[in-house]
Amino acid sequence: MNPLAMGGYNAREIYFEMGLKMKEIQRFTLSDLTLPMKTLFSGYLLVIGLGLLFAGGQIMLTHGMADGKVGLSVDDIIYSYHGNQEGGSKLVSKLNGSMKDNAPPEVRIAMIKWAENGAPQEEWDEKISMDVDQYCAPCHANIPTLANITDKAVMDEMIKLDEGQSMSTLTRVSHIHLFGIAFIFFFVGWIFTYATGISQVNKAIIISVPFLFLMVDVLSWWLTKWNPNFAWLVIIGGFGYSLAASVMIFTALYQMWILPRRKVHPIDPPIQ
Ligand code: HEC
Repeated sequence: MNPLAMGGYNAREIYFEMGLKMKEIQRFTLSDLTLPMKTLFSGYLLVIGLGLLFAGGQIMLTHGMADGKVGLSVDDIIYSYHGNQEGGSKLVSKLNGSMKDNAPPEVRIAMIKWAENGAPQEEWDEKISMDVDQYCAPCHANIPTLANITDKAVMDEMIKLDEGQSMSTLTRVSHIHLFGIAFIFFFVGWIFTYATGISQVNKAIIISVPFLFLMVDVLSWWLTKWNPNFAWLVIIGGFGYSLAASVMIFTALYQMWILPRRKVHPIDPPIQ
């Protein structure tokens, strides 16, 4: 005989009763926590909230400037993860851009061809280094803030294709990001389970969102490295989990410190 059908109860009723019991057991609610527990939780949440703000600031400063303009845009994400492969190397894009007038056309074209042929050393020794000395050195070898491209090692950096984030960097950052942020959301989510006035299903959804978006975020870095059209996913991923974290942090702080001072407490919706 099915044990759940004993005693005139059906499974639904038993689960319902268990549900009520479990609800009674969850008397651990944010507003009723002891002062030390509230202090512990609040300290953690405030530090994490501050950390999220700094993370946002850091993203603005590193990625935000990648396209040369202030503020985070889809182009920034593309330059950071995918690189600027269409624009070629820095040398070629500068010679076609702001450095265009600094050498006669034949010299410019010879330099571009040299760079696009993989910058062979013999040609550097025979011709290119002299052109650089003649046309570029006046500025680049004399103004300390400019890359000294008369030095072959410096020039080598300028002729590399901009391929965005390297595989090894991306692998390293991905695993640090996943491990580290999972810890943050584990504890924030745990604290949030003690919130009241939110149905169990909605709580579960809010708790799951940061984990899902975290995976979307990291996956989207790799997708963007491969195809720039995925750049918008990076922004949605980062935005999504910041939003979910903010909801949890603010709800928890409110219910610990402000709610107990109010007369009307929200009543938990019935457990389905
Ligand atoms: C009149 C001074 C001047 C001359 C001559 C000049 N440059 Fe520049 N170069 C600059 C300045 C200023 C910058 C930084 C601003 C910019 O990137 O446009 C720069 C930047 C660059 C950069 C980017 C460096 C970096 O670290 O991002 C490259 C590459 C470059 N120049 C190549 C050349 C080459 C090749 C020549 C010779 C054909 C040349 N430049 C001649 C002034 C000069």
